[in-house]
Amino acid sequence: MLNIQGIHKSFGSLQVINNLSFEVKEGEFVAIIGPSGSGKSTLFQLIGGISTLDGGAILLDEEDIQLKRGTIGYMPQQPCLLPWRTILENVTIVEELQQQPHIEQAQAWLEKVGLAQFENAYPNALSGGMQQRVSFIRAIVSDKPILCLDEPFSALDEFTRLEMQAWLLSIWEQHRKSILFVTHNIEEALFLADRILVLTKRPATIKEEMIVPFERPRSEGIRHSAKFYALKQQLFNYLKEEKDDAYVD
Ligand SMILES: Nc1ncnc2c1ncn2[C@@H]1O[C@H](COP(=O)(O)OP(=O)(O)O)[C@@H](O)[C@H]1O
Ligand SMILES: [Mg+2]
Repeated sequence: MLNIQGIHKSFGSLQVINNLSFEVKEGEFVAIIGPSGSGKSTLFQLIGGISTLDGGAILLDEEDIQLKRGTIGYMPQQPCLLPWRTILENVTIVEELQQQPHIEQAQAWLEKVGLAQFENAYPNALSGGMQQRVSFIRAIVSDKPILCLDEPFSALDEFTRLEMQAWLLSIWEQHRKSILFVTHNIEEALFLADRILVLTKRPATIKEEMIVPFERPRSEGIRHSAKFYALKQQLFNYLKEEKDDAYVD
């Protein structure tokens, strides 16, 4: 469904992505982990059509989506809410641009993430984690065949993060839209994904691919299994090999 084919990207003399290729299949949940500054957010900007490729191609269902915005559901690393729009208006903006906002659906989602009472508030009244949840809901209601989430839970405290992971899994298990998920959290990647791509340090290319063997629906219990621990250690070692001065992100 989503095909990344030998893409390249540089900013001036800084080569960020080098011949990166992978695929996300229909209904698949793929996580990407890699060192800080390896080009993960840049990759998402390329997929989202807000940055230009230097080489290679990005295809969605065989169609070249280079510089085509609005074909994927995209949640950036920063929440990027518009300060002059209310929370509800921020959530519905993508559909509004397509002249078909589903206000009730947006309200139902806000309710599910505990933000119903904030629908008429403005973003500056919300904490960073709450803003990130709004940004997440905005990506979900945009109703695209693939959701690209760039460290969506990184601003949340540990407890809320675990809750949001379980919540995301329950939604995904019902709807099975393809998800491409960047995280710096190894455990999060293992708990959520079908497959994990480990990137090299910059310029990014694929270092390793791990098929996650846990059955679905997944329960919290797998986090305490010997298998989980062993895979976590393996991923940790891959990242350690790619680490220079930068901390693992
Ligand atoms: N618009 C830009 N102009 C110049 N350099 C950029 C730009 N965007 C990102 N970079 C650089 O590209 C590298 C990769 O950034 P990024 O994709 O944000 O990494 P990650 O998300 O993996 O931490 C970094 O060194 C960053 O400074
Ligand atoms: Mg990033």
